[in-house]
Amino acid sequence: PPLSSLINLDDFEIAFAKSGPRKANAYVSSASNDLLTLNANKSAWQKLWFRPRIMRNVASVNTKMTMFGCNVAMPVWICPMGIAKTVGPEGEKALGAGAAASGIVHCMSTTASYGIEDILASAPSNPFFYQVYVDKQRHKTEAMLQKLANEKQVKALFITVDLAVVSKREADERIRTQETTSVYQSGEKNKIDKKGGGLARTTGSFIDWTLSWEDVAWVRKHSRLPIVIKGVQSAADAKMALKMGCQGIVVSNHGGRALDNAPATLLILMELRRDCPEVFEKMEVHVDGGVRRGSDVLKAICLGARGVGVGRPFQCSVAYDTEGVESCAAILQDELETAMRLCGVTDLEKARGDLSYLNTSELE
Ligand code: FNR
Repeated sequence: PPLSSLINLDDFEIAFAKSGPRKANAYVSSASNDLLTLNANKSAWQKLWFRPRIMRNVASVNTKMTMFGCNVAMPVWICPMGIAKTVGPEGEKALGAGAAASGIVHCMSTTASYGIEDILASAPSNPFFYQVYVDKQRHKTEAMLQKLANEKQVKALFITVDLAVVSKREADERIRTQETTSVYQSGEKNKIDKKGGGLARTTGSFIDWTLSWEDVAWVRKHSRLPIVIKGVQSAADAKMALKMGCQGIVVSNHGGRALDNAPATLLILMELRRDCPEVFEKMEVHVDGGVRRGSDVLKAICLGARGVGVGRPFQCSVAYDTEGVESCAAILQDELETAMRLCGVTDLEKARGDLSYLNTSELE
């Protein structure tokens, strides 16, 4: 479908599911086991209602925010996602360039299809974040951190910790099984991983499952960048991240791609508000998972988040190159401004952590 016919973020995922290669779509759209967390993420945002205020002169609204020292047009960052080239030839270069054109930041993945230099060059004057999977061969991660020290565009390290092992992704596996059958029928050797691999399992086996909280100090020894723990799913671990001297956290369950039945990220954010409100002041709290509307962004900010990651819709927008990424961001920006005006919020920074705009009764 033409780009101009895509009018919301879901449309980007639907278009790619219809027209993209089957294997790439299985990798991008799928999640763990029964997809319970995938679906819970999205439906939780839909169950949180506003408490709109009226008559506040909403002619001009300010969506600007700062995150890890970067000035952004709106508090949205593009999630780190592996091998974006499977969606479109420009891959992460489209994400970088599209982010820059939209005044937002892309967090590059350890498993990106392009090298760091190429991605940075796609937006030479824009900041980036870098996502780290700690490698079983620690010297490789150390070398990467060393290299990043010289890349002035990189402003924060997102250490992803919610995927000690790659989970079971059945959509991936089914395609793999079908392929194996046809390979078998054609008389070639059957090389399938008995556990049922798929793209995710085969690309994730290098991740170090011995990682522990002491390793924050190890990262700190090799990098001066802000350390952000991506994958926090409880108040206890948010407190731990603060205690270990991290500069931020991302409340995330990997978009439902890690532990199935992990709670919706919105519910985790609410747990943090209740059990460790201090973390919102002492470090940057971000959230991702199922955010599909500008109004979801507004909700996250009112709950105290400083930024919101959006994943799959941006990955799917790469099918339309940089223009697709820009269009996806423009839709979010427009929806965010509209939601703010209709809710009586003129300045997003001032509304951060202001629960008076929310009505959580449906969730309680
Ligand atoms: C991911 N995610 C991810 N996270 C990470 O830290 N490193 C990575 O390499 C990847 N790779 C990846 C690939 C694909 C195709 C997807 C969809 C996701 C998780 C991602 O950063 C983010 O947490 C979720 O995608 C957010 O959920 P939504 O917005 O996709 O619902």
